[in-house]
Amino acid sequence: MKLKDWLKDNQSLFIDRDLRYLFKNTFGQSPALLLEQEEFLAQEKLDYLEELKSDYAKGVPLPYLLGKEEFLGWEFKVNRNVLIPRKETELVVEKALEVIKKNRARFVLDLGTGSGNIGISIKKACDLEVSVFSSDISFEALCVARQNVVHHDVKVELVRADLFKAFKKNSFDLIVANPPYVAPQDIKGSLVYEPREALEASCCGFAVIREILKNAPSCLKKGGYLIIEIGYNHKEMLESALKELGVYSIEDWIKDYSGYYRGIVLHLNESYG
Ligand SMILES: C[S@@+](CC[C@H](N)C(=O)[O-])C[C@H]1O[C@@H](n2cnc3c(N)ncnc32)[C@H](O)[C@@H]1O
Repeated sequence: MKLKDWLKDNQSLFIDRDLRYLFKNTFGQSPALLLEQEEFLAQEKLDYLEELKSDYAKGVPLPYLLGKEEFLGWEFKVNRNVLIPRKETELVVEKALEVIKKNRARFVLDLGTGSGNIGISIKKACDLEVSVFSSDISFEALCVARQNVVHHDVKVELVRADLFKAFKKNSFDLIVANPPYVAPQDIKGSLVYEPREALEASCCGFAVIREILKNAPSCLKKGGYLIIEIGYNHKEMLESALKELGVYSIEDWIKDYSGYYRGIVLHLNESYG
């Protein structure tokens, strides 16, 4: 069978971005270019594409089938023990880099690291000397993060910890977190293939965010920063939690590509502690 014929028969099954990523990974070329060529598909490639297509049709996200995903243009290994890195989280990392630069932050905690994408990207992109600690409650996630640390050849300390329990007081200039924030009833569709502990939080998805807001101050150094990703519907809950706590000032908001408020930069009040 010719590759272009397989493509014609199957391209409508894939979303565009996935088809491009699949073909870039498998053939090193874009589907549009391959449609112009007369190349035949080797049997083993055909078997591979057919098997992948059948899992994809069931809803398995492509990054799990390929074992990797791009984040900020870098490749991260993923498996079903970690969340697939998302586009909105790239905005969180960009904001973290701004905060590090502006405030000369030295000690950074990436809380709930999953594949390690946040901490590793900060370490790779930052031209200042930063010590990055990446933590997770999941041993399996930390194994994936370890592979990515090695793959990217960066120095990032991996720590197994339940939120802040393993960390001393006044340890960090900046804490960055993309915590679980999906309400249980919203875990459906392709989300069911991702680890539940990476997604689910009670109280409309806000429970872990609230815990982090409450406990981060003790691990932050005086005047430190907390950057936290939130769900598209969390802005009001966040504002009222911040009012109640009264220890942070809002430095900035992060909006996603659809205009939703998806993250916040908080400054711990100098008077805290
Ligand atoms: C939404 S995922 C984020 C993964 C990755 N940082 C990213 O942005 O793609 C949340 C991560 O937090 C971890 N996690 C959940 N509860 C935790 C807890 N109590 N303490 C530490 N990590 C936790 C999960 O295992 C998961 O890897």
